[in-house]
Amino acid sequence: MTRFATYPSLAGARVFITGGATGIGAALVAGFAGQGAVVGHVDLQTPAGDGAWFRALDVTDTAALQGAIADFAAAAGGIDVLINNVANDARHDPLAVDAARWRALMAVNLDCGFFAAQAVIPIMQRQGQGRIINFSSINALLGPAGMPAYVAAKSAIVGLTRALARQYGPDGIRVNAILPGWVVTQRQLDLWLTPQAEAAWMEQVALKQRIQPEDAASLALFLAADDARMITGQALVIDGGRT
Ligand SMILES: NC(=O)c1ccc[n+]([C@@H]2O[C@H](COP(=O)([O-])OP(=O)(O)OC[C@H]3O[C@@H](n4cnc5c(N)ncnc54)[C@H](O)[C@@H]3O)[C@@H](O)[C@H]2O)c1
Repeated sequence: MTRFATYPSLAGARVFITGGATGIGAALVAGFAGQGAVVGHVDLQTPAGDGAWFRALDVTDTAALQGAIADFAAAAGGIDVLINNVANDARHDPLAVDAARWRALMAVNLDCGFFAAQAVIPIMQRQGQGRIINFSSINALLGPAGMPAYVAAKSAIVGLTRALARQYGPDGIRVNAILPGWVVTQRQLDLWLTPQAEAAWMEQVALKQRIQPEDAASLALFLAADDARMITGQALVIDGGRT
């Protein structure tokens, strides 16, 4: 039987999550809500009735994203945790990407995380504490073919994490990155996770089981909790032993 932790420090915590309607984001919404947190999230897609504060928007619309963060903070009375989870792992041929496509891929995979942090940091400074968790990927380490903008953005997220951790640590703000391996979401099942691709993955990992969205969410819960109070500026891998 698998048994998971309850973190007293997350009860009542105000948590804002990007891309929370499906996949790992939905597991984050459920995971933090299960800890008694007050959760708000944004997504292009409408979530399946999770009961949390929600606004439909495109995170590449910076004004809309920062406006949603301000409105959630006003409704909840602050923001303790920001989770930059949203991404788009669309494959792209390096030789076919024009400037507009490159900018669009960076906007969803990198820029929105920076601008969400920019919106929450003054709130967290006023509170004297806060946590930011940025979703990167082991693809930042492995550099697979066929998605150079995604790999570049996920690598940049690690640098952004370190820079913000150093600058805002004195304000009591911790900033960490999570690098998941292949997490079995519905999108991955629909688009990329063929039996052959999964067999190849399973040969390369130490733990021969699928990584579930809840496994990635568990690491985010720990990083957001006071149990991780002296962890900042780190890039933590959860990949079943792939890297
Ligand atoms: N699933 C994996 O195997 C895996 C592996 C490594 C890293 N990650 C990272 O973990 C995070 C979550 O992964 P996931 O697989 O659940 O992602 P996903 O692509 O399945 O879902 C992301 C969510 O973001 C939403 N979204 C996409 N573009 C948006 C936009 N422009 N505006 C608003 N919402 C938008 C989608 O509707 C979706 O609900 C991502 O940062 C991803 O890069 C995932």
